[in-house]
Amino acid sequence: MTPLEPPEPAVAEGAVAAVVVLAAGQGTRMRSSTPKVLHPLGGRSMLGHVLAAAEPLGAGTTIVVVGAGRAAVEAHLAAIAPGAVPVPQEEQRGSGHAAALALDAVPELDGTVLVVNGDAPLLRPETIRALVEEHVRAGNALTVLTAEVSDPTGLGRIVRDAGGGVRAIVEERDATPTQRQIREINAGVYVGDAGRLRDALGRVGADNEQGELYLTDVLGLLVGDGVPVGGALADDPDDVLGCNDRRELAARRRTLNDRVLDRLMRDGVTVVDPQTTWVDVTVTVEADAVLEPGTQLKGRTSVATGAVIGPDTTLVDTAVDEGAGVLRSHCLGAVIGPEATVGPFSYLRPGTRLSRGTKVGAFVETKNVEIGEGSKVPHLSYVGDATIGRGANVGAATVFVNYDGIAKHHTTVGDHVRIGSDTMLVAPVTVGDGAYTAAGSVITSDVPPGAIAVARAPQRNVGGWVRRRRPGTASAEAAEAAEKRDATPGADGPDLLPRTTTSRES
Ligand code: UD1
Ligand code: CA
Repeated sequence: MTPLEPPEPAVAEGAVAAVVVLAAGQGTRMRSSTPKVLHPLGGRSMLGHVLAAAEPLGAGTTIVVVGAGRAAVEAHLAAIAPGAVPVPQEEQRGSGHAAALALDAVPELDGTVLVVNGDAPLLRPETIRALVEEHVRAGNALTVLTAEVSDPTGLGRIVRDAGGGVRAIVEERDATPTQRQIREINAGVYVGDAGRLRDALGRVGADNEQGELYLTDVLGLLVGDGVPVGGALADDPDDVLGCNDRRELAARRRTLNDRVLDRLMRDGVTVVDPQTTWVDVTVTVEADAVLEPGTQLKGRTSVATGAVIGPDTTLVDTAVDEGAGVLRSHCLGAVIGPEATVGPFSYLRPGTRLSRGTKVGAFVETKNVEIGEGSKVPHLSYVGDATIGRGANVGAATVFVNYDGIAKHHTTVGDHVRIGSDTMLVAPVTVGDGAYTAAGSVITSDVPPGAIAVARAPQRNVGGWVRRRRPGTASAEAAEAAEKRDATPGADGPDLLPRTTTSRES
């Protein structure tokens, strides 16, 4: 093996024949109309995190037991893991019942099976791998993932014998006061032999405080059968934390975020304030990017080296290229080119593509627009359904009028165009290369290259109007004072305008 080759994975792909995720539970404590496993954190649903952690096993079969909120969970599954097979559990009769239904759905399946609770969003692939390795090493029929936690309230306790061998899992509600003192808990992640599991699940009873069929009882039954059973302690107790209510959801989200930020900082990203910076697990950020306070990076967002994001910026599915800056802005599905600058206070919507060195300044909204190299939209504009060439400038308060009430239309602005402030570009319309539009114009037909389009009412000054129509007001007094001053020879001030209607334009 050359040093460059990646290390041989200790668990060969396919060592685990099937992954079973238990996701049918009500999640009553969430008090939500959304099924518990669909609650999002760090860029995936709880279920999505569990499936991602099991993914590297390369199991041929993935089964997800669905019940509560079944239609929604199945739809989500089809979107994120189309290869996974949903197995319905009509009535939630316990985790043992759910696991039995899953194995019944694949009667021909044998070999090793991973069974995992759907509400363990912090589980990492390396933890699952270590569990499978231990299972294989010990030659067990069943190996359960355990953890030492400071507060085991509500969790199943691992009962070991004097020799340290795992004897049983006892749920807190059924535990004796002595058993409740145990701080080693069941993580809800199990690897076992499919045949042994099937057999033991068939023997599980409902003789417990909840009257449910407990998956956890399988362990004691197999111990009774005299087959080897073990427990593998997780390296990081955070990995095994479940999520049963909104407070736990917030805590898991925080832990997940801390892990992501730790990784980014180790990789050379500056995170100015980790407390207010939120980055999804699906995001990539290159070394020497800077994340200012209040930054949120979501979905398929990527940030290249030298880019500065924030403060107070949210990027969703947005690509930011080298050296670009995004300040106090909200961007969805945008592509921000190298050295481009955005903000403060701008809103980039899907289909926005900014080329190198472009500027989208303050209070600008863009949608479905391509802006060419070095072009600028510095202030207070709406740019929708447009192509803008290179080196163009779009004056303040310009609106690309793209919607006629029924359909959207396209505007094309050429290279080095100067769009005057407060221009309405009524699409479909084209402004040719090097053309100008006069400030305040409503452009409804194409402007040829190099022309200036002036499309506004000529100015009319009605002299003396204020004196006549607003007598006695401060404005009238100011006007009179100005007239007197200007009529006095040698006094400072502009020439008196003639009291006639004038127009600046011919
Ligand atoms: C379970 C374990 C407990 C462990 C804890 C770890 C049991 C009996 N207890 O407790 O030992 O410490 O997880 O977080 O398993 N489910 C179904 N169908 C059902 C019931 C549950 O699919 O009929 C699913 C749930 O969606 C969940 C998982 O099984 O993903 C566990 O059920 P839950 O009610 O959350 O069990 P806990 O009380 O958390
Ligand atoms: Ca749980």
